[in-house]
Amino acid sequence: MKILVIGGTNFIGPAVVRQLYAMGHEVTVFHRGKTAAELPEGIQHILGDRSALSQMKSEFERLSPQVVVDMFPYTEADAIALMNIFQGIAERVVAISSMDVYRAYAVFLQIESTPVEPVPLTENSALRQQLHLFREMAERPLNAPADYEKILVERVVMNSADLTGTIVRLPMVYGTQDPLNRLFPYLKRMDEDRPAIVLPESIAQWRGSYGYVENVAYAIALAATNERAKGRIYHVADAEVLTEAERLSRVGRVAGW
Ligand SMILES: NC(=O)c1ccc[n+]([C@@H]2O[C@H](COP(=O)([O-])OP(=O)(O)OC[C@H]3O[C@@H](n4cnc5c(N)ncnc54)[C@H](OP(=O)(O)O)[C@@H]3O)[C@@H](O)[C@H]2O)c1
Repeated sequence: MKILVIGGTNFIGPAVVRQLYAMGHEVTVFHRGKTAAELPEGIQHILGDRSALSQMKSEFERLSPQVVVDMFPYTEADAIALMNIFQGIAERVVAISSMDVYRAYAVFLQIESTPVEPVPLTENSALRQQLHLFREMAERPLNAPADYEKILVERVVMNSADLTGTIVRLPMVYGTQDPLNRLFPYLKRMDEDRPAIVLPESIAQWRGSYGYVENVAYAIALAATNERAKGRIYHVADAEVLTEAERLSRVGRVAGW
């Protein structure tokens, strides 16, 4: 199958690209050429900026991918441009979303004050009512733009009359090349051979939802290549949900601390 990955060279993208390639697919990545990743030699690159996606139409038509995996649709405008350009070219678009769409996330941030959401969250769990949570943040994660909003991205991708969509919602992703260095504060203390790592009780008992990058990438690759994923939303995360204290103890054991 011919697959175009929009992005694909930072953190989760390379793992997805390698997985799709290992499954025998013909993979092309579209990015600006600013971020380099170790990808197999057989991967094709198309260089360009997604802010000018429409200018690349003839190149995408020549490639004629069956599936487009958009690794970083951040805004409603990104999603509209994506669906507009690939209708008539691709059969399906897979858009990467986040568990920040859930109302539970807004409750966690104390922005919405509904009763605590029942867990585990599923694809059918309630979504936030308030949009554009990142707008007020001084430092937005992953350099997200002010109008970042995965709820609107999902809506556009799932409601296109002309092109089928699939959504994959990701948890907090960890693994090699994690740009957020989620484990760094703990690994640093372990490397310093501290006798203990002190956590506030509220953090120690907290059960966050995580996913290992290679597993998450495998799930995205399956969603991209399996016909049954048409028109569906998937929530991907490690099945085992540890407290933060348990998680760090396990990391400590692996790190020899
Ligand atoms: N990390 C987490 O814990 C987490 C949690 C939930 C959801 N997510 C979602 O996972 C996705 C991000 O994953 P990732 O960064 O690992 O993806 P990635 O596909 O590995 O990297 C992002 C890619 O975007 C390209 N890019 C950036 N700006 C561009 C532009 N204007 N035009 C064209 N290409 C551009 C970069 O290459 P160039 O710099 O060369 O252009 C890079 O290849 C996002 O959708 C995020 O919301 C992540």
